[in-house]
Amino acid sequence: MSSKEVDALKAKLPEAVATRLQSLRLADGRATLVVDATGLSALDRDKLEVAAKDALRGAPGIAETRVAMMADKVRRRIVAVGSGKGGVGKSTVAANIAVALARMGRKVGLVDADIYGPSQARLLGTEGIRPTARENKLNPVASPWGLPMLSMAQLADPGQAIAWRGPMAGNALAQLVEADWGDVEVLIVDLPPGTGDIQLTMLQRFKPAGAVIVSTPQDLALMDAMRAIELFAKGKVPVIGVVENMAGYVCPHCGEISDPFGSGGAQAAAKSAGLPFLGRIPLELAIRQDSDAGRPPAASDGAEGKPFLALAEAVANWLDRQDGAIT
Ligand SMILES: Nc1ncnc2c1ncn2[C@@H]1O[C@H](COP(=O)(O)OP(=O)(O)OP(=O)(O)O)[C@@H](O)[C@H]1O
Ligand SMILES: [Mg+2]
Repeated sequence: MSSKEVDALKAKLPEAVATRLQSLRLADGRATLVVDATGLSALDRDKLEVAAKDALRGAPGIAETRVAMMADKVRRRIVAVGSGKGGVGKSTVAANIAVALARMGRKVGLVDADIYGPSQARLLGTEGIRPTARENKLNPVASPWGLPMLSMAQLADPGQAIAWRGPMAGNALAQLVEADWGDVEVLIVDLPPGTGDIQLTMLQRFKPAGAVIVSTPQDLALMDAMRAIELFAKGKVPVIGVVENMAGYVCPHCGEISDPFGSGGAQAAAKSAGLPFLGRIPLELAIRQDSDAGRPPAASDGAEGKPFLALAEAVANWLDRQDGAIT
């Protein structure tokens, strides 16, 4: 083949393809293009391939066009959000960390691994949206807050009780974690409460880079939090730190702060376990109302979003420090 023929073919390519073209070879009537697909979603990759094939269809001497997509493999890290006890605000914290990270420009996604009691579709305002699948891989659902997400709630029929047994639950989790996350670099995983099968699968199969432990300030919740901390320690997953949620009730009428669950307990527990304390989130009516309405507080500039933004910053800094340690 002459370079003239190759140049003539290149000239036919639309700009979107041409700017990403790494090589174009011509042999036996077949054009083989290598295209840089870094950062493209599956849908955009498909579009590029179709555009390239359309452009070269019918070109003299070309019976077939093949397009190979090359992408730098994204180094994706998982941050698990867990607690020993239920109802302490894991899902709220996970959703808001994710939204805040997205606002900070991080490429972040979220997996709702609480397959028995999924709540992220509600929290992130994606209820009723079903993910599509391509080549046996799920395509995450785009939330209105600038991040893709997947929850078991989006796969089950609405209102259908899910009675997964251990191995099935593990496989369901794998479908979510191994979905087509595109260029997502940080995957926040909202774990179910406790230290059961799903948590073990998560540790063994998907090895989070780090874990955030959520606890309320009272003693019983703290004891459960210690169990979660031990679980991560056994799985050699570093604990990024402990968050104290529902600390200090802010009266919506007078603004006075009271402590229904006590205060400072999680900070003290973190200290005694030698773990970083990541911050305190007050018990606030607006947090529950906005969360229930699918408007994560971290998406707004209101006062109730501030503690979550600070928390996300601590997580981002931790991830960056890990980068520093590796390179
Ligand atoms: N700081 C807060 N102020 C007010 N309400 C909160 C706060 N954190 C969480 N909540 C509310 O408490 C409830 C439980 O929170 P969430 O679902 O996040 O807990 P969870 O630990 O994920 O629970 P589960 O163990 O069932 O998964 C929700 O109604 C949520 O809106
Ligand atoms: Mg939850």
